Amino acid sequence: MRKRTEAQASNNEPVNADRKDPVQRLPSQAKAEGRVSYRSVLTTIGKCLLVIIFIPPFLNYASLQREGQVLLPKDGHMVDVGLGQKMHLLCKGKGQPVVVLDAPTGMSSDVWLHVQESVASLTMVCTYDRMGLGFSKRQMQNETTGTEKVWGLSTTGRMVDDLHRLLQAAGIAKPFILVGSELGALNGRFFTHIHDVQVSDLVLIDPIPEDVFEDNQWKEYWWGKLVPSLQVRQFSAATGLSRLLIILGVMEPAVTGENVSEEVIQRQKYLLSNPAHQSSAVDEHYFLNESAAQVRDITKFKPLSSRTAVSVITGDSFDQEIPEHLNQMVARLQKKFLEESYPSANHIHIKGADRRMIYKKPSAISQHLRKLVHQRQAKQQSE
Ligand SMILES: *[C@@H]1O[C@H](CO)[C@@H](O)[C@H](O)[C@H]1NC(C)=O
Ligand SMILES: *[C@@H]1O[C@H](CO)[C@@H](O)[C@H](O)[C@H]1NC(C)=O
Ligand SMILES: *[C@@H]1O[C@H](CO)[C@@H](O)[C@H](O)[C@H]1NC(C)=O
Repeated sequence: MRKRTEAQASNNEPVNADRKDPVQRLPSQAKAEGRVSYRSVLTTIGKCLLVIIFIPPFLNYASLQREGQVLLPKDGHMVDVGLGQKMHLLCKGKGQPVVVLDAPTGMSSDVWLHVQESVASLTMVCTYDRMGLGFSKRQMQNETTGTEKVWGLSTTGRMVDDLHRLLQAAGIAKPFILVGSELGALNGRFFTHIHDVQVSDLVLIDPIPEDVFEDNQWKEYWWGKLVPSLQVRQFSAATGLSRLLIILGVMEPAVTGENVSEEVIQRQKYLLSNPAHQSSAVDEHYFLNESAAQVRDITKFKPLSSRTAVSVITGDSFDQEIPEHLNQMVARLQKKFLEESYPSANHIHIKGADRRMIYKKPSAISQHLRKLVHQRQAKQQSE
């Protein structure tokens, strides 16, 4: 945000310099003759710069207004979760147990596309956008629900409260299978430790170990590299630059490929150019250490009931694009917290996968979820 004001300030300079001009010209008219055309060229350039700087954000804003209405998924519901807040819930398929999917840090429900399609042939599968992301717009007027005072905005405690209200308001059948990736896995754990009777199976995909944020190298990577790169993306969305880069093909959506519909591609482009969505993505990353700390406290305070079955899905590394020593550290801490908190969890390893597995290697995840659904359905029938 500070960067934007700097850009505006530097942009004002040619205009101010021009205003001083008439005063300077008075003493010597002759010398000024040559300078007038020079000055007018500068003025013209200044005006052009103004146009170039202010038109893209304006056009971007106008396009976002239109796209926000057109691109809302047809099966999607805007559910009133109370206190003037509405959240976007997208359920496909019919039957029980319901499968609820919670996306990775800063991502919208679209990342679950393939998994949702595949499992929806067996039962009802629901995705949603966390508050501030995707189509779940945050209403700033009504922030005084009390929970954000206890947990803080954009942290797991607040998100789980939102998810609980959403599932309650939408009348989702219980118990359900709760699946979360990264931040979604933190949410899944927090939710299940508090509302254990509502969750029959907890599936953790690429769970973030809480202790990782105590490591200095990880802190340096997270707040020194990852968060600033997301802030640049937010700034780029706000200035309309992202829209331009998308049109030029420099910036691309994460979920692509032959089986991804044009509508889903357009929706991701809309979110890439949407500063509100990008700002929430930054917040979720920025406060991830707070979220992890909340989950660690809850885990210690209230261990999981033995009724809930836990499974963990991980790939070869946390993220193939970060240095190997960081990946090794995450793997070591992951193993430690899983042994301590979920000793009887069923562990599934997906070869060649990392944190992008939900949309890059969806079939292995779908296969596991289908198995869980079959098991629960068989149990229901035998009872
Ligand atoms: C804020 O919450 C109150 C009480 O639930 C509600 O009546 C009001 O409409 C909400 N305001 C907005 C802007 O949604
Ligand atoms: C696309 O879907 C078809 C049919 O469901 C499947 O056979 C194919 O492997 C999928 N392609 C990719 C790249 O996922
Ligand atoms: C999370 O990180 C921020 C910034 O580095 C720090 O101020 C805060 O105390 C940390 N919170 C926890 C729970 O460690």
